[in-house]
Amino acid sequence: YWMFNMKLLLLTAAVLLLVVGEGAAERVLSRRTKRELASPLHVGGIRDPFGSYCQRRGGCCPGRDDLCTVPYLDTICYCDLFCNRTVSDCCPDFWGHCLGVQPPFIGTCERNGNKFFTGQTYKENCNLCTCGTTGRWECEQNACLMEPDIIQAVNRGNYGWRAANYSQFYGMSLDEGIRFRLGTQRPSRTIMNMNEIQMNMDPQSDRLPLYFNSAEKWPGKIHEPLDQGNCAASWAFSTAAVASDRISIQSMGHMTPQLSPQNLISCDTRNQGGCAGGRIDGAWWYLRRRGVVTEECYPYRPPQQTPAEVGRCMMQSRSIGRGKRQATQRCPNTHNYQNDIYQSTPPYRLSSNVSQTKNTPTHASIMEVHEDFFVYKNGIYKHTDASFTKPPQYRNHGTHSVRITGWGEERNFDGTSKKYWIAANSWGKNWGENGYFRIARGENECEIETFVIGAWGRITMEDMHNHHHHHRRRHI
Ligand SMILES: *[C@@H]1O[C@H](CO)[C@@H](O)[C@H](O)[C@H]1NC(C)=O
Ligand SMILES: *[C@@H]1O[C@H](CO)[C@@H](O)[C@H](O)[C@H]1NC(C)=O
Ligand SMILES: *[C@@H]1O[C@H](CO)[C@@H](O)[C@H](O)[C@H]1NC(C)=O
Repeated sequence: YWMFNMKLLLLTAAVLLLVVGEGAAERVLSRRTKRELASPLHVGGIRDPFGSYCQRRGGCCPGRDDLCTVPYLDTICYCDLFCNRTVSDCCPDFWGHCLGVQPPFIGTCERNGNKFFTGQTYKENCNLCTCGTTGRWECEQNACLMEPDIIQAVNRGNYGWRAANYSQFYGMSLDEGIRFRLGTQRPSRTIMNMNEIQMNMDPQSDRLPLYFNSAEKWPGKIHEPLDQGNCAASWAFSTAAVASDRISIQSMGHMTPQLSPQNLISCDTRNQGGCAGGRIDGAWWYLRRRGVVTEECYPYRPPQQTPAEVGRCMMQSRSIGRGKRQATQRCPNTHNYQNDIYQSTPPYRLSSNVSQTKNTPTHASIMEVHEDFFVYKNGIYKHTDASFTKPPQYRNHGTHSVRITGWGEERNFDGTSKKYWIAANSWGKNWGENGYFRIARGENECEIETFVIGAWGRITMEDMHNHHHHHRRRHI
């Protein structure tokens, strides 16, 4: 008992020292009593309500007596009258045996044939349920990211796509999904009004193929979908992925860097929110003016504790003339020495028609993500009314950005056809169609055709030559 309290005291003292400094800590400690520092036994309900403790001890103690204790499970409980003041450390039979009254914790709730007591909790999907004093479970009423009803409704309906229950999303609320899994802010009005590139297409010589998939046209040069985790930085993921693809295609595979989203998240902080959302036009500006290194050099660190943490910027670059830049710091990954900076040309915006011309590489596109998108498994996505039978908190949406990698057309049995885009998301490869999804094309579904942007890598013949040697030298 003494050792136990001593440990707690030392621990508390250490924490206080860290927080308020030495002198203040002593003052605070002297005002606290040992008992107030004891672990609260009953916060989660009495775990052994039928055991006899004070009775087995042979009675109760008047007033305060810090030695009037009995071993209780893996700790101790008290049988002095003082315990009643804090309630939290009385033995389970204290009220019945010492006071002759009902304990303040009397509710019992049932779940799967097991008994639970007042204050005990369990988590049902994204909602915490607490055993109330009346013996009934009281559950939070949040809409969850994975709602079995919505998954079922989508799979029973004829929507053209199917839904799945993803374990990585299970237990999150819809609001958390929108807060932590998206992360693109709408560009400003001036950017949104940026002129779209129009090409004069000769309808004869430039007929659109019915199907185009950049991953098939440029094997090995289109980067696989990544997982942003609980970091709302799709702005950085979509931009880095498109720029990576472009450099690989443009250099004809001499350079196939996977550019670092973390470099953007931690260093492109001007008017950007890191893991709390950002803008893709800002990300392209950074890629053009400052440039970023590869993922191997500056690896992604998804936030563990607070989802909004960004991390200190660990990469800087300086100008070496003609707009080109060079890193002035080593890679944050100390096992990697390739800190080459990759830059892009100014971004251009294109009308959704142009992106359908032949031989088009990948683009970044903004879209609105609705509640049912999180459960997408395969097929051609369209926002459904599957949540419309539920209260309004089950419907919500947020802005996201993704990488468009191709398009196609699916023939239906009745002779009609459905046009779609192929796009890469940043929710890992076990989501959707290997990390990709298809979405209705030509009707601005979820506003995916509103803002499509791309930029070329800034690569010279010299770069390609250098990189060629770089790689060769490493093999010699
Ligand atoms: C002790 O517990 C009883 C029963 O819960 C309660 O009625 C009484 O007010 C408590 N006394 C103090 C001093 O908290
Ligand atoms: C969904 O997945 C979670 C965790 O993987 C599981 O606990 C839950 O029972 C599943 N729900 C349905 C309806 O399959
Ligand atoms: C796209 O092309 C279609 C058909 O060629 C045309 O009707 C439509 O106006 C075009 N949209 C834009 C934004 O240029």
